[in-house]
Amino acid sequence: MTTGLHDAIDPALVPQRRLYTGAAMPAIGLGTFGSDHVSGEEVAAAVEGAAAVGYRHFDCASVYGNEDRIGGALRRIVAGGIRREELWIVSKLWNDRHAEQDVIPSCRKSLADLGLDYLDMYLVHWPFPNFHPPGCDVSSRSSDARPYIHENFMNTWRQMEQLVDMGLVRHIGTSNMTIPKLRLLLRDARIKPAINEMEVHPHFQQPELFEFVRAQGMEPVGYCPIGSPARPERDRTPEDTVDIEDPVIVAIAHRLGVHPAVVCVKWAVQRGQTPIPLSTKRIHYLANLQATVSEPLSADDMDAIAAIDKNCRLIKGQVFLWKPGQSWEDLWDLDGEIKQ
Ligand SMILES: NC(=O)c1ccc[n+]([C@@H]2O[C@H](COP(=O)([O-])OP(=O)(O)OC[C@H]3O[C@@H](n4cnc5c(N)ncnc54)[C@H](OP(=O)(O)O)[C@@H]3O)[C@@H](O)[C@H]2O)c1
Repeated sequence: MTTGLHDAIDPALVPQRRLYTGAAMPAIGLGTFGSDHVSGEEVAAAVEGAAAVGYRHFDCASVYGNEDRIGGALRRIVAGGIRREELWIVSKLWNDRHAEQDVIPSCRKSLADLGLDYLDMYLVHWPFPNFHPPGCDVSSRSSDARPYIHENFMNTWRQMEQLVDMGLVRHIGTSNMTIPKLRLLLRDARIKPAINEMEVHPHFQQPELFEFVRAQGMEPVGYCPIGSPARPERDRTPEDTVDIEDPVIVAIAHRLGVHPAVVCVKWAVQRGQTPIPLSTKRIHYLANLQATVSEPLSADDMDAIAAIDKNCRLIKGQVFLWKPGQSWEDLWDLDGEIKQ
């Protein structure tokens, strides 16, 4: 259906990703992690406004602390005439709910908060069960922190599979995984993950993981697609680079007459991941959606952006480290081995 606003995008024109189940997932979603700077009410208003301009895919998580407010927005969206089946709603299991007995209740809580009777996608947010409070400093460590233990992860995954069997979720997936961890999961899963949500932006393209995920019949969903320019100070390091200030991105943006953020989104959809940019400003989230239906970037533009990868991970995950003397690189299995 169309939304009736003169500048809205017909959702039927927005590119879709075909999952291995045959389901169609819109190739762009709205992020909903307000972090310290955007309240739950503002995020919920953005969800409602984004649905009105043509978004159908919303990336939620229990840890974002706003699913109840987003639930209110979803109820108004459906009351306004958009059918539930037209929406693609994602939520995520937080790290302190990996225990077998916690997975199903945690999903039920997200469903209740969101006012839904099923989720289109439910993800294990991180492969580490280590609790840390939202908003804590990167130097914070959990006293019972552990590395990735595949047997434990599979116990969690069995409950994720159960959620599919129960009809509470249509698909399950992973987030913040690496190739070695995914190999084990793909070997042992009864229900294969349909997506892997991972950090992807022009300065952090993760080509190896991106190709691996696609080769396994999963879809890569890219978080921080604009390089998360408003992330809190605690999530920054001096080495971090700024995608929207990259001369290649800026030059393309000038030529097209758009903000550099829009170039990042356009590149993402065209390359093949599904970006989930957050914006609370109508002009911005509309521009990001428009980017998916307007004339594609040229092959030269795509090549130029491929060449500015700086392997600059922004969400390093320091809080998940489990023993003294480690560095955040240990979380990401860079030498192909799962660190213990
Ligand atoms: N799975 C995970 O572990 C994980 C981790 C991190 C994030 N995520 C998900 O990914 C989503 C996106 O990540 P993110 O929010 O950190 O970063 P992001 O989407 O890369 O950047 C968001 C920032 O970009 C600005 N922006 C967006 N569109 C713009 C435009 N067209 N022009 C100018 N500025 C624009 C927004 O400001 P305005 O509001 O002012 O437009 C906002 O400050 C999150 O909300 C969350 O859903 C998942």
